[in-house]
Amino acid sequence: MSSHGTSKPMTSRKCGPLSGVAQVPGDKSISHRALILGALSMGETRVTGLLEGGDVLDTAQAMRAFGAEINRMDDGEWRIHGLGVGGFAEPEDVIDCGNAGTGVRLIMGAMASTDISVTFTGDASLRSRPMGRVTDPLALFGAAAHGRSGGRLPLTMVGAADPVPVRYATPMPSAQVKSAVLLAGLNAPGETVVIEQEPTRDHTERMLAGFGAEISTEITDEGRVITLKGQPELTGQTIIVPRDPSSAAFPVVAALLVEGSDISVPNIGMNPTRAGLFKALKLMGADITYSNERLEGGEPVADLRVKHGPLKGITVPPENAATMIDEYPILAVLAATATGATHMPGIKEMRVKECDRIDAMVTGLTACGVKVDETEDSMTIHGVEHIPGGATCKTHLDHRIAMSFMCLGMVTQNPVKIDDAGAIETSFPDFIPLMQTLGAKFAKVNG
Ligand code: S3P
Repeated sequence: MSSHGTSKPMTSRKCGPLSGVAQVPGDKSISHRALILGALSMGETRVTGLLEGGDVLDTAQAMRAFGAEINRMDDGEWRIHGLGVGGFAEPEDVIDCGNAGTGVRLIMGAMASTDISVTFTGDASLRSRPMGRVTDPLALFGAAAHGRSGGRLPLTMVGAADPVPVRYATPMPSAQVKSAVLLAGLNAPGETVVIEQEPTRDHTERMLAGFGAEISTEITDEGRVITLKGQPELTGQTIIVPRDPSSAAFPVVAALLVEGSDISVPNIGMNPTRAGLFKALKLMGADITYSNERLEGGEPVADLRVKHGPLKGITVPPENAATMIDEYPILAVLAATATGATHMPGIKEMRVKECDRIDAMVTGLTACGVKVDETEDSMTIHGVEHIPGGATCKTHLDHRIAMSFMCLGMVTQNPVKIDDAGAIETSFPDFIPLMQTLGAKFAKVNG
C-alpha cells in the first residue's frame, strides 16, 4: 500500500525475450548500516550508491531524530555528521520505521545501551512482527522494552543507564538479531560476544571494522563467535554501497524464466553470506557468468550476465538458507517453470518476514495453477510446462511477494494481477520502469 493508504493494483502479462542492462539499486542491508554507523561515528561519513527506498529513508529520518545531521548532495552522495558512540539524543517524537524490520531492530540495538527512552512504530506489516527476538537480548544489557502483546510495536525502549556487556547465542539464524546485539555492545564497557550457529550476512561486522571498531570472528565448536570491544571511537568513513543482490534476483530470475532472454546486471554485491541464490541457480543449471570480480569498500562485487535456458528442480541446500532467505519467493517462481520438483527445506524464518512468505507464495502459486506442498518449515514446488496464471495474488505489504508475482506473470498463459504494488517502493523504487525497459509487460490497473 502506498504511504497514503491506497492500493496500487498491477498486472503482468506474457512478454518476449528480455534484453539490456539492469541497473538495480543499492544494497538495503548495507544502506541501513551505513546510516546508523555514520550516526554513531565522529566526523563525516560519505555514502555513494545509498538505496533511496522507503525503508532506508525512514532510517535516515530516525538518525536525524537522534541528532545526526544527514544531507543528500545534488550528485546523490549522502553525508552524515555523526554523534559518536553513546552520543544519541532522546528523540522528541515517536520513531516510525515504516515497513523496515531491519531498520527498527538495528536502531533498537543502537540506542539500547544509551540512557534515553524511545517509542518505535511502523506500518501494519511491521506492527505485526515479533520484536522479542531483539528486546530479549537487549534486556541483558539493562534495557527495558514495553510493547504490545507478543512484544509487538508500538514499543517503548528504555535504554540502559549503566550498560553491561553481553554474551549471547542467537536462537535463530538472524543478522538483525546479531547486529542489534553488536550495536548495543558498542556503548557497553568490555567485550560483547555474539555466537551464531549458521553464518548470516556479515555486513555489520565488516562495516564496524571499517569504522575502526575492534571486532573479530572465530569459527569454534560453538559456532561463529564474534567478539566486539566496547566503547570504541568510531570515525567517519567513505562508503560505496554495492548494488543489492536481493534486488538483482528479480531481473536475474526474470531473464532465466523468459525464453530467449540475455541481460547484464552490473556491480552486484557478491558477499558469500548473501550469495546462496546464485549457488542454487547454478545447481538448477542456470546460465550465469560473472566478470570483473573485485572488492569495493570491503565487499566483493561482480558484473553478471544471465541467459535463459532449461532448468531442473533441485533440493535447495538448507545449510545455505540464511544466505538467501529473502530470495526464496522469487526462487519459488522460477521453480514453478523448472523440470521436476524443487524442495526448499529449512525455511521457517520466511514465516516472520514482512508477511508469512511461505503462506503468501503457496496461496498465490496455487491460485495460478502451480502445485505446491508446504510444511511449517518447507515448500516443495512442482514445475509445470504451461502455467495458467489468471489469478489475483495478495502481496500483504511485502515488496518481495509483489515483485515475485509480477515476474511470474511474464511467463503465464493468462496475466497475473497483484492487489498492491505499493510496497515495492521500500526496496526497489524503479522496479516497474526498469523491468519494462528490459521487455516486461507490466501495467497499472485503474479504478
Ligand atoms: C537483514 C536480515 C534478514 C533479511 C532482511 C535484512 C539485515 O533478516 O531477511 O531482509 O539487513 O540484517 P533476519 O536477520 O531476520 O533473517
